[in-house]
Amino acid sequence: MTKIAYLTIDGTVYELPMFEGSEGERAIDITQLRSLSGCITYDPGFANTGSCRSAITFVDGEKGILRYRGYPIEQIAAQGSFIETAMLLIFGHLPSKEERSCFRELLGGQELLHEGLRHHFEGFPSKGDPMAILSAVINSLGCYHPELVDIENEEEFTMAAAKIISKVRTIAAWAYRKSKGLPFMYPNPALSYCRNFLHMMFSIPNRFHEPSQEAVRALTLFFILHADHEQNCSCSTVRMVGSTQASLFASVSAGICALWGRLHGGANAGVIRMLHRIRDGQMSIPTVIEKVKNREMRLMGFGHRIYKNYDPRAKILKQAAHELLEKMGRHDELLDIALNLAAAAMADDYFAERKLYPNVDFYSGLILRALNIPVNMFPVMFAIGRMPGWIAHWYEDHQNPTLRIHRPRQIYIGEPKRDYIPMEERGIIDG
Ligand code: SDX
Repeated sequence: MTKIAYLTIDGTVYELPMFEGSEGERAIDITQLRSLSGCITYDPGFANTGSCRSAITFVDGEKGILRYRGYPIEQIAAQGSFIETAMLLIFGHLPSKEERSCFRELLGGQELLHEGLRHHFEGFPSKGDPMAILSAVINSLGCYHPELVDIENEEEFTMAAAKIISKVRTIAAWAYRKSKGLPFMYPNPALSYCRNFLHMMFSIPNRFHEPSQEAVRALTLFFILHADHEQNCSCSTVRMVGSTQASLFASVSAGICALWGRLHGGANAGVIRMLHRIRDGQMSIPTVIEKVKNREMRLMGFGHRIYKNYDPRAKILKQAAHELLEKMGRHDELLDIALNLAAAAMADDYFAERKLYPNVDFYSGLILRALNIPVNMFPVMFAIGRMPGWIAHWYEDHQNPTLRIHRPRQIYIGEPKRDYIPMEERGIIDG
């Protein structure tokens, strides 16, 4: 029995159907609102607006719950691999042994870049932001794989997805190598997804990098925790661009650009820069808290549109940072500072009243530091992890026969109709 929402405007009662998701979330379907009432809804930032029905990821911000295709993030983080997490998000089920080895073999065959693409890197300045390089080169993949620009079937989609998931590592590592003036290391198909990335990042021609098991596990965990997060800004961007029937390459390239912002995927770097300032004595923790409360700055890595409780990913990453540093026999004073800063913030009413807790970005950078990843690569690491989520959402839309191009409305508040003033009357004598 469909529940109905009643809306009264100027004495007229409009009936709007409601529906419920599989976890009890309720929505008012306003698809007919404008044709019935002439009105639209207004929701800047879309905090109250659902853009789609999705079966990929479930987040309960009040309870701090995150599940990929129904599996709790805590269980996947503890036991899963990044490739099977990618397959779970994209294809909807945990892969069998055969499915997993097939996909891994597909990825193994796609890790190289066309040599023409390698020359792109020669044109980038060494100080060019790696997120700019990543979005440019990922988008350029469409030039080298025109047969995968208009995807007609699951086989073509799977190939395009495999190319992106595999090559994103090579592009990211080569952007780093370019910035360091180091020779590019080619991928080694004998290595696992994460080991291969670390090899391309840190091996040199005469000495291959052998990452420790704990480093590989920490990177795997990092990618798993970043793999998807429902309709965040970058995912919604991928879905919006994909709704125009733009290619998967162009759509995820747009997602990279959206993720780049400091309020989104750039926050992990912002956290470390903030902790550096405290470590270097430029600010004390009480000063940071004061500045935040005076709205002179935001506490990077804190707050979330959905989580009004502790981000479950932050809990896992906090523990993982501790364990990784301990296993490495290393101490990072930034972790101590982060813990003290978080404690001070969470003890303060300003943060409690606004339900501001550590999010995925607050501790993630400490793991990347331990892996010797430079701060300017942190958003790139987020993008590598998020690729499977973006691809899964793009595909979910493309399997929807009723998909419409995303085109929000607006309320115009500009000038009323007025007549054009000829240039001569404005003293412009067109030469
Ligand atoms: C990610 O959406 C996702 O799922 C994103 C993500 C994913 O996996 O894809 O989880 C990844 O992007 C995590 C967020 C990373 N960004 C940061 O850590 C940057 C710092 N945080 C924020 O700027 C902010 O919390 C956002 C952007 C994350 C959320 O912004 P909202 O939901 O628009 O909240 P808001 O700006 O309306 O703030 C509500 C109130 C305001 O106070 P009042 O005006 O009501 O008094 O909370 C305050 C804000 O001033 N506030 C903060 C704050 N975040 C919100 N105050 C200080 N520090 C902060 N970090």
